[in-house]
Amino acid sequence: MKSKFLLMLISVVFFLNACSKDDNDAAEILETPVANAPKDVNDNGFKAKWNYVSHSKSYLLDVSTSEDFTTILPNYNSKEVTDLNEVVTGLTGGTQYYYRVRAKTEAQISDYSNVISVVTTGSNGIPEDPTFLKVKVNKLANPFFVGMAIKASQLTNGTPYDVILRNEFSSISAEYEMKMDQISTASGVYNWTVADKIVAYGNANNINVHGHALVWHNAVPQWLKDFSGTDAEFAAEVKKYITDVVTHYAGKVKSWDVVNEAVDDNGGAMRNTIFLQRMGPNYVKDCFQWARNAAIAAGDTSLLLFYNDYATSTNIAKQDKVFAILEDLKTAKVIDGVGFQMHNTYLSPTKAQIETDLNRAVAKGLKIHVSELDIQVNQFNDISSFTNERRLAQKAKYKEIVKIYNALPAANKYALTIWGMKDNESWILYSTELNHPGNDWPLLYDSNFAVKSSHTGFLEGLD
Ligand code: GLA
Repeated sequence: MKSKFLLMLISVVFFLNACSKDDNDAAEILETPVANAPKDVNDNGFKAKWNYVSHSKSYLLDVSTSEDFTTILPNYNSKEVTDLNEVVTGLTGGTQYYYRVRAKTEAQISDYSNVISVVTTGSNGIPEDPTFLKVKVNKLANPFFVGMAIKASQLTNGTPYDVILRNEFSSISAEYEMKMDQISTASGVYNWTVADKIVAYGNANNINVHGHALVWHNAVPQWLKDFSGTDAEFAAEVKKYITDVVTHYAGKVKSWDVVNEAVDDNGGAMRNTIFLQRMGPNYVKDCFQWARNAAIAAGDTSLLLFYNDYATSTNIAKQDKVFAILEDLKTAKVIDGVGFQMHNTYLSPTKAQIETDLNRAVAKGLKIHVSELDIQVNQFNDISSFTNERRLAQKAKYKEIVKIYNALPAANKYALTIWGMKDNESWILYSTELNHPGNDWPLLYDSNFAVKSSHTGFLEGLD
């Protein structure tokens, strides 16, 4: 009896002791982490580091341009990190930054650590940072160009735009400044100034220049729209334009989209453009032949000629018609590759649809350019800010297409081009057709040049 009572007493003491220990744990103040000096400082970012705090599950990292953290960079505003370091990217060269961290458990957040000051390096050398797109792509067994759509005004030396471009991209396409309505001011009269600047930038920085685009129904100069000569004279004007532009850039531009968007969206017919009306259904082949002849005459035997179009992965009638044209151009031996624009959304096209489309080009032995990639997250205009759910969906979709592209046979790879750098500058925000003005986040960098999860998705797609 006595020993039974003693056993009970011992159990009660143990129980009480256990309870009070739990209480003590919960009440324990989470230690403040110590931030360390940064590592791998370059002109685009650095690696922030800090010490382990016991019981912590993660850390919240702030990066700011001011020591008092009044303006915190959007991508690094309490960014939750589970490691003891984080590679901070998307910064401007030669600029002062500060960082600090807090430790976090399920229930608590610690005080702020000490503040670490770091200045990014100048923009001369291109650092071999593995988080830079082209750095990672160039390490692949079969690399390809990572392209960016640009405007001449964005190419000023030392600006964040220029620094990111040279760090991360190996090819450029002019968003609109190398189209016919920009270059051709009258019959045989050309304004080369802006286009020359773009091409010179690419050539000077060892960045591939993709010419976009010689013939497009949405970029016909007014004088040609109004042209009152015969159809044969109209065709001669187009031939003259193609010949003069290809000659002017021979050896400086590696590839051209010869014809852009010649196929209609409904039923897979030829699009009813001024070129079809004036030159007949063989106009696509004629344009390719003129471009090829001009290049050879100028001594450029390696110019690559592309046909470029959109929405072929989901619109099968259109896809069939595009591939019929490609077959025709192949037979005439005037084409090298096909550009799939890929103005996609976070829902469409599916992986299988993209693969089927691209594999048809593989079967034809054509080079493949994913030529204008962007991924909308608000095509139904149903969100007013960039939600985490859409951020992750977009990341997954970027990863998916990069994976598909990277898995193509080496001979079919050319370039994967992103259609713009910063979200707030994308054409999608201004398109009346897409009709969700100002309200989408389709690209790899936010409006402050900070890398988004989509950028990480791109990198992961290369693994
Ligand atoms: C099409 C064209 C591009 C560009 C975009 C909008 O996809 O091919 O040149 O004009 O529209 O930026």
